[in-house]
Amino acid sequence: MAETYQQQKKKAHAVCVPFPAQGHINPMLKLAILLHSRGFRITFVNTEYNQRRLIRSRGGLDSLPDFKFETIPDGLSSTDDAPADATQDVVSLCDSTRNNCLDPFLKLLKKLNSSDNSSSSSPPVNCIIGDSIMSFCVVAAREIGVPSVCFRTTNACCFLVNRNFTLLKQKGLIPLIPTDSTTDHSNGNLERNLDFIPELKNLRLRDLPTFFRTTDPRDELLQDFVMGESERASTASAIIFNTFDALESEFLNSLSRICPSIFTIGPIQSLIHQLPENSLKFIGANLWTEEPECLRWLESKPPNSVVYVNFGSITVLNQQQLIELAWGLANSKRNFLWIIRSDSIAGDPSVMLPPGFLEETKELGLIAKWCPQEQVLNHPSIGAFLTHCGWNSMIESLASGVPMICWPFFADQHINCRLACTEWGVGREINSGNLERNEVEKMIREVIGGENGTSMKKKAIEWKKKAQEATGIDGSSFLNLEKLIKGVLPN
Ligand code: UDX
Repeated sequence: MAETYQQQKKKAHAVCVPFPAQGHINPMLKLAILLHSRGFRITFVNTEYNQRRLIRSRGGLDSLPDFKFETIPDGLSSTDDAPADATQDVVSLCDSTRNNCLDPFLKLLKKLNSSDNSSSSSPPVNCIIGDSIMSFCVVAAREIGVPSVCFRTTNACCFLVNRNFTLLKQKGLIPLIPTDSTTDHSNGNLERNLDFIPELKNLRLRDLPTFFRTTDPRDELLQDFVMGESERASTASAIIFNTFDALESEFLNSLSRICPSIFTIGPIQSLIHQLPENSLKFIGANLWTEEPECLRWLESKPPNSVVYVNFGSITVLNQQQLIELAWGLANSKRNFLWIIRSDSIAGDPSVMLPPGFLEETKELGLIAKWCPQEQVLNHPSIGAFLTHCGWNSMIESLASGVPMICWPFFADQHINCRLACTEWGVGREINSGNLERNEVEKMIREVIGGENGTSMKKKAIEWKKKAQEATGIDGSSFLNLEKLIKGVLPN
C-alpha cells in the first residue's frame, strides 16, 4: 500500500556524498542502500562528471522509491574536455573538492529543504554522510544543524598511520626521499620497522603511503590534504570504517582512544547480501560498462584454477610493466582473467600487448575491460587475485576467501599489502615496482597449485568465515550498524 505523505514526512533523510572515484562510490552506495532498507530516504550526491558516466554505463538512471541521485560540480575547469571513460586526476580532484564543493553543496541542501521540494513529499535533510576526504560535508552539516558521519573507505591501520604523520615528521622520517636527492631520511634503510609506534611495529618505512615519501609538490599537496581531512573527519559525530573488528582489533583499540565514536561495518557487501530481494541491493554504480561474459567464461574453468588480475579504477601501467605481466601470466600456464580498463595504459591496449601473446594464451586467458568484481571473486573457479591492494579489492577478496598476490602502487596500498602478507597470512608480495616476468610466473605457480597456496587458501577461508560472523545477526559489524542508526542518526 502506498505510504501517505505524513508517513513519508516522518522518515529520516540522509544525504550521502562519496569522493568522486569508483573505490569510494562503491562502499558509499552500499551504505546508502543499507540505510534505505531501514526506512531512510536517500539523496546520493555524485559529481556532474561521474553522474554522466554512470548514466552512460547503465544506459540511464532508474527512478527508485525514496532514493534519488543529485549532483554538484567537482570544480575542475577541464571536466567537460575529460575523456568519457577515465578516472580524473586524483590529486587535482582532492584539491578541487576541498576548495570548491562546499558552496554548491550548501545550495543543494537548501534546495532539498525548500518548501518546493517538501511539497513533492521529501522530508527535510536530517543527517549527512560524507566520505572522510570530503570533509566539507562536516562543515555543511554543522551549518544546517544536523549530525554528520564520516565514512573512511580505507582501513583502520591506514587512518592510524595518518594520525601519526606529525610524529613521523618530527622524527625526520618524512619525507623519506626528497626528489632532488639520492639520500633518504631513513639512513638508507627503508626496511626499518616503525618500532617506535607499538601498534604499527610490523610496518616498514617503505610501507608508508607513497605521498609521504617525497618533496614533489603533488605529494606535498596530498600530505596537506590528507592531514587536514583526517583532522576534520575526527570532529564528525561518528566515523565508520569498511573493516571488521576481528581483522583490525589492535588498530581499532588504539584509534578508539583518540576517536571515541568509531563504527566498523565491514565487509559492507556482506551486509548487503542479507537484504531481502525487494530491497535496492542490486543497484550498482559502475562507471565502466560491465562485461558479464567474464562469468560465463569462468563457468568453463575448473575450481581454484584461475588467477584474476585487476588493478582497480585508478592505477595506470607503463608499457614495460604490461609486457612483463603479460609474459608472466603466459609462462605460468595457469588460466587467467585479466581486466584492462580503457584508461589503464596509454594508447590502445590490444596494440600494446606483446606480439604473440594473444595467440599463445588463447586457451588460457580472457581479457576484458571491466567486470562484476564481487561476483568474479565469489566464483569457485577463482584461485588467486593478483591485485594492486586497493582497500575495496582487499576486503572483497577476504570476504570471498580468495588469496592474493599483492602488487601495490600508491597511497594506502603498500600498507594493505603488508597486512595481507604478514598479519593475515593471505598474501604474497611482488617485491618491486619494476615488475619482472619471472617473479610473476613464480608467484602465480606458488599460489595456484603450490604448497604456500594451500595454506594461504586455508587462511583466506578462515577470514571469510570471520567476515561472515561479523556481518551475521549479532556479529560486530551488524550490531555496529544498528548502533549507528539508533544512536547517531536521527530516525
Ligand atoms: C582507490 C584506491 O586506489 C585505494 O587504494 C583506496 O583504498 C580506495 O580508493 P581503486 O584503486 O579503484 O580505489 O581500488 P579499489 O579500492 O580496489 O576499488 C575498486 C572498486 O571497483 C572495487 O569495489 C571493485 O569491486 C570495483 N571493480 C573494479 C569492479 O567492480 N570491476 C572491475 O573490473 C574493477
